[in-house]
Amino acid sequence: MGLIFVYMQQANPIGVFDSGYGGLTVLREIVRQLPEYDYLYLGDNARAPYGNRSFDTVYHYTLQCVEWFFAQGCSLVILACNTASAKALRTIQQNDLPKIAPGKRVLGVIRPTTEIIGQFSETQSIGILATNGTVASNSYPVEIAKFFPQLRVYQQACPMWVPLVENNEHLGHGADFFVKKNLREILEKGKDIDTMLLACTHYPLLKDKIAEYLPVGVKLVSQGEIVASSLADYLHRHPEIESLCSKNGQRVFYTTDAPEDFDNHATIFFGEPVKSKHMDLDASL
Ligand code: DGL
Repeated sequence: MGLIFVYMQQANPIGVFDSGYGGLTVLREIVRQLPEYDYLYLGDNARAPYGNRSFDTVYHYTLQCVEWFFAQGCSLVILACNTASAKALRTIQQNDLPKIAPGKRVLGVIRPTTEIIGQFSETQSIGILATNGTVASNSYPVEIAKFFPQLRVYQQACPMWVPLVENNEHLGHGADFFVKKNLREILEKGKDIDTMLLACTHYPLLKDKIAEYLPVGVKLVSQGEIVASSLADYLHRHPEIESLCSKNGQRVFYTTDAPEDFDNHATIFFGEPVKSKHMDLDASL
């Protein structure tokens, strides 16, 4: 009797990680530009927000989640979270990957953004709006200086913006106060800023409100499109990774907290209904 070999491609989705819902704004753009791939999203909602946490904590949380992605079969993981990209990515790439998964890759959102942000500015002066953690890491000024050394970079932490979005208050009048306050603060520091980067996954949801309070002529840049184009370019340049990624157009969502809560919030970030499953952090330790 002859043997019948059945070839089934193992699911090897592209992992997309965030501290919570915000990375869905990035995944939304990635899916729009690269719909053929499978995606596995994980939001660490049970431990979010990451924005005010220490380097060590963000690193340990992120590494645990990256290992979970690898256990699910992912060869490529995108840290869609600015805070995780700022505080954990370098250590994971340089210290952990060579030991735990030398053939796998983890990418962040800061590098692709800093590679091109200078092209948006005519005054050579840009503003970075981000969480406390991202600002404190100084990752943006340091990385931007490598590509655009002449650029003046001003940063502003906007710690109330994430809670406003998380609590669905981003369109209400309460949000106006904090948006106005933080924009005034950054524009006092950098009077000739003509480009403002939304360097946090949640801020695209505040885009219209931010635009209302920006002086005429200041461009507002969000990262979703930049990260998606950069991923397309990466996959093109790295056929050895691209060929591992499965392409059935599937999207699977996990949260470390309650799936019902995640699904209720996720739609506003992703733009279409989401049905998530629970990832048990204790079981993954
Ligand atoms: N995802 C985070 C970021 O992009 C914002 C939310 C948080 O603080 O966890 O920085």
